[in-house]
Amino acid sequence: MPQNQATNWPANPPKLHHTTFTTLRMDEMVKWYGLVCGLRPVFQSDEASWLTNDDANHRIALLSPPGLKHPTDKGHETGIHHTAFEFSTFDMWLNNYSRLRDQGILPFLTLDHGITMSVYYQDPDGNGVEIQVDGFGDWADSSEWIANSLDFAQNPIGEYFDPEKLLQAREEGLSFKEIHDRARAGEYRPAVIPEDIFLPEVW
Ligand SMILES: [Fe+2]
Repeated sequence: MPQNQATNWPANPPKLHHTTFTTLRMDEMVKWYGLVCGLRPVFQSDEASWLTNDDANHRIALLSPPGLKHPTDKGHETGIHHTAFEFSTFDMWLNNYSRLRDQGILPFLTLDHGITMSVYYQDPDGNGVEIQVDGFGDWADSSEWIANSLDFAQNPIGEYFDPEKLLQAREEGLSFKEIHDRARAGEYRPAVIPEDIFLPEVW
């Protein structure tokens, strides 16, 4: 079981503001982040674009400098595995899954982490994008749980689920908490469980 070694941090840390990716598919990436995450470009060009979906001047930036190359084995190279976006309610999160499914965009991983229920997509460059809802509907509660619960320490990756089974459960009238608890207990497992959490090769 992994031991929690988080013991030291600055008193007044800066907040996470944005992530910047390099890309050779500027137009495709701008369109994809708009469709999947509602990020709109505040400045867009072939060389660089800045996108936001809230009050910040940007949350994702995309750069395409001369001489840029595609990675050779991105899924098994160190670096960012995914960027995450959070919906404030279970219904918004699950409805977003359906909306994207209807556009032909499907997740490559679907996991109940306890702290969150999460679906993971890949952008056109193969970067991971997690769309989540807090498992407790409250950051204070999920923060307490990730730091102190034996359940999380014993199973930090969590349990796979089939989002279509979540839609069915909601249709049958189950609450978010009931669905989350059942997913965590493995009741909505997909027919095929992914072998690992590496980013699939798409480049
Ligand atoms: Fe994540």
